[in-house]
Amino acid sequence: MEKTWEKLSKCCKSVKKKIDFQPKVALVLGSGLGDYVKEMKVTATLDYSEIDGFPVSTVPGHKGRFVFGYVKKVPVVAMQGRVHYYEGYPMTDVVLPIRLMRMMGAEVLFLTNAAGGVNERFHAGQLMLIKDQISSFVPSPLVGPNLDKLGVRFPDMSEIYDRELRRLIKKTAKEMEIPLEKGVYLQLTGPAYESPAEIRMCRLLGADAVGMSTACEAVAANHMGMRICGISFISNLACGMTDQPLSHKEVQEAADRVAPLFEKLVTGSIAAIGRSLKQKK
Ligand code: HPA
Repeated sequence: MEKTWEKLSKCCKSVKKKIDFQPKVALVLGSGLGDYVKEMKVTATLDYSEIDGFPVSTVPGHKGRFVFGYVKKVPVVAMQGRVHYYEGYPMTDVVLPIRLMRMMGAEVLFLTNAAGGVNERFHAGQLMLIKDQISSFVPSPLVGPNLDKLGVRFPDMSEIYDRELRRLIKKTAKEMEIPLEKGVYLQLTGPAYESPAEIRMCRLLGADAVGMSTACEAVAANHMGMRICGISFISNLACGMTDQPLSHKEVQEAADRVAPLFEKLVTGSIAAIGRSLKQKK
């Protein structure tokens, strides 16, 4: 897997040549947080296409860039546009940006996404704090010779989503009076939405939400010892749970509607995480 390491080092050098910024929190912006950067005091941006060796999206109109700046004085690097496995990249490319943000210095990874609700108690428009995940349906980004510089061969996964970060996010949501569900996120490859039978399978396996990103990113970040937290926006009830067929447009429109609340919760949570990191020092 020397190629993976070489690619990563090349990207890292390229970023460091262009940007002098040390983030504490790495934030992945999913659907619903597309405009989140307006909440940030932005100091620099870097298009993925400006980074030598970076996997650039094949999807027309997909902008992708790192945005560097501050959220309530906490130094943050945000990923505006992520790389999805269904676009055809190898898993090592999909998680390259996550690894890169760790190498820039980020200690905490804050993941966000839009997901389909599998839990029958859920309804469209809710936010769900991710408490655990099922990534077994997508290839592991850790397959291949281990990159010892990043982490161990057989990483422990007993607490992927950090207990203390979860506590801080729950407390923030409560203070802001933002309803927040909790649940298990399951990643499938996509890009097709699931069939009703697949959704029944997901529910039997213990999933509360289903999506096409995130879990593989958490596996790579966990390998590198990052503290991870994540929030899913339940944009729709999963296939077969309502009479309506699913469409990307519906997902995006729902995401736009919930954006202000989602943004507020993320900002409040990052501020709380920043305070807690300071206390630890
Ligand atoms: N399934 C998978 N991914 C999704 C969904 C869904 O129903 N909604 C948003 N992302």
